[in-house]
Amino acid sequence: MYKGVLFDLDGVLIDTARYHYQAWQALAKQLQIPFTEQDNERLKGVSRVASLDILLGLDKTGRTYTEDDKAQFLQVKNDHYLSYIKHLTAADILPGVIEALTFLKTENIRIGLGSASKNAPFILDKTGLSAYFDAVIDGNMVTQAKPHPAVFLLGAEALRLIPSECLVVEDSEAGCQAAVHAGMAVIGIGEREHLPSADKVVASMRSFKKVIIFN
Ligand code: G6P
Ligand code: MG
Repeated sequence: MYKGVLFDLDGVLIDTARYHYQAWQALAKQLQIPFTEQDNERLKGVSRVASLDILLGLDKTGRTYTEDDKAQFLQVKNDHYLSYIKHLTAADILPGVIEALTFLKTENIRIGLGSASKNAPFILDKTGLSAYFDAVIDGNMVTQAKPHPAVFLLGAEALRLIPSECLVVEDSEAGCQAAVHAGMAVIGIGEREHLPSADKVVASMRSFKKVIIFN
């Protein structure tokens, strides 16, 4: 069994992935850029700045944007997002998550967070999840976005483990690739077609214990 598990936050522990999508969608609408749920898959796990570049890349009108424009767009997106997440409570923790975290605690397996989100501390606090974590690495601490492995390598270091002792749990392909680049095993949460780099894929955190017990 692994000595540590590094969890992604959005879409794995909390149902915030849909709020990110809604907030990007609101910005896309304002800019009149077509943006579908399929396009949104490419934004999952990716940092705020890298996500905006992907979104603006969907603009086929030839418009150009200054750095000031981009800074303003990032503010608009985050304001939308904050208006959605300010009401988060423990009820928004995804099914199976508390059971998984409790199981890891009883097995003395270290628990870390490896998230690209700068809002991660706020979300952990609102939902009461902070108490479970031995280490938290978030978007305020890393500059290189997933699929770069920085966030998970820092996470392993903070847990005082080497990469091969860690398991990553992710709902994004960029995050699964980051885990692979870090030399860690990775469980994908979602659908296999969206997570080709995951070692195993399960539909939700409800199946976590079953999967980890055999490793
Ligand atoms: C996560 C999400 C992304 C999000 C990124 C930055 O990893 O999967 O969709 O864009 O974090 O989040 P933030 O809260 O800092 O905008
Ligand atoms: Mg995620």
